[in-house]
Amino acid sequence: MALLEIRDLHVSFATRDGIVHAVDGVSLSVDRGRTLGVVGESGSGKSVTALTVMGLTRLPNATIEGHVLLDGVDLLALPGDELRRVRGKRVAMIFQDPLSSLHPLYKIGWQIEEAIRAHERVSEKAARARALEALTEVGIPSPGDRLSSYPHELSGGMRQRVMIAMALVLDPEILIADEPTTALDVTVQAQILDLMRALQAEHGTAVLLITHDLGVIAETADEVAVMYAGRVAELGALVGVLDAPEHPYTWGLLQSLPSADASRDQPLHPIEGTPPSLIAVPSGCPFHPRCPYVMAVCPREEPALLPTRPGHTVACHLPVPTRRRIGAAVRAPNARA
Ligand SMILES: Nc1ncnc2c1ncn2[C@@H]1O[C@H](COP(=O)(O)OP(=O)(O)OP(=O)(O)O)[C@@H](O)[C@H]1O
Ligand SMILES: [Mg+2]
Repeated sequence: MALLEIRDLHVSFATRDGIVHAVDGVSLSVDRGRTLGVVGESGSGKSVTALTVMGLTRLPNATIEGHVLLDGVDLLALPGDELRRVRGKRVAMIFQDPLSSLHPLYKIGWQIEEAIRAHERVSEKAARARALEALTEVGIPSPGDRLSSYPHELSGGMRQRVMIAMALVLDPEILIADEPTTALDVTVQAQILDLMRALQAEHGTAVLLITHDLGVIAETADEVAVMYAGRVAELGALVGVLDAPEHPYTWGLLQSLPSADASRDQPLHPIEGTPPSLIAVPSGCPFHPRCPYVMAVCPREEPALLPTRPGHTVACHLPVPTRRRIGAAVRAPNARA
C-alpha cells in the first residue's frame, strides 16, 4: 500500500466571480521513502492539492471531495483535532517563503521547541536539545547561537534550512515541499535540494515535491505528475516521463527548459498562450486551446488518464504511435548524458 494515496480529489472554491475548480479528479500516490514531483504552470492546482492533504483548504467557501489516504486512513474524514495530530507529526510541510511559516517575533530555537511540544510531551530541556540537533543536521553554522536568532537575522537559504529542521524534527513519514527553492538563487537552491535528498535518504522520508521547474524534478524525483488545469495530464516514473513523454503539455514544458549544454543564446520555446481560468475550464481536454496537435475530438471529450506503458499514464487523444514518435523527438534536445 502506498504511504499517501490521493484518490479522485476534487476541490472547488465559491468566489464572487464563480466557482473555481482548482483540483478536478486528481489521483496520485507516494510510496515510503520515495519522491513524487508535481509539476505544472501557475494555477494548475498544485498547492491546493498539497494544502488539502494537510487539511488547510477546509475553508467556508471550499467543497472537497475524494480521499486522501495516509497509510489507509482517510485524512479528509478526520475531525479537525485528529487531523492536527497528524499534521506536523506524520505529515510535514514546507513552503516557498519561510517567513510565512516562521513567526517574525520569536526566536528560532523557541519555534522549533514549540513544534516539538505541540506533539510530544517532553521537557523544555529535551526540546531544546532536539532543536539544536535539528539545526545542526540541516547544516546551520554555529547552531547553538542560532537558537536565539530571529528569522530576519538569517539569509533566505538559512531560513529555508530552519524550516526544514522544523519540518523534520518530529521525523514525519512524509514531507510536502511546495516550491521550497523557488525564492532562492541557483547555488543556494542546489544546496537546499542536496540537503533535502540527504535527509530523506537518512530518515527514509517520503517527499511530495511541488515545483513549476522541471529541472528541479529531474534532479530529485522518482515519479512525476504533470498537472494542468487541476488535473493530471501525465504520470509516471521520472525516466519514463522525461525520456519518453507522451503528452503535448509535457513536451511544451520540456521544450521551455534550458538544456545543460545549450549555449546561452539558444532560444527557448515557452508554451504559447496562457493557462486557463479555473472558473471557465475549456471543454474536453483542458489543454486543447493551446495544443499544437489538437484534433476534432479534443474539445468534445475529456481524455481519460490511461496506461501507455507499465507505470506510465497519459490523458491524451492522440494515437499512441504518434505520441511516441513526437515524444522521442522532443526529449532528444534535452536528453541528459
Ligand atoms: N482559497 C481559495 N479561494 C479561491 N480560489 C483559490 C483559493 N486557493 C486557490 N485558489 C485558486 O485555485 C487555483 C489553483 O491554485 P494553486 O495555488 O493550487 O495553483 P498552483 O499550481 O500552486 O500555482 P502556482 O505555481 O502559482 O503556485 C487558482 O486559480 C487559485 O486562484
Ligand atoms: Mg502553488
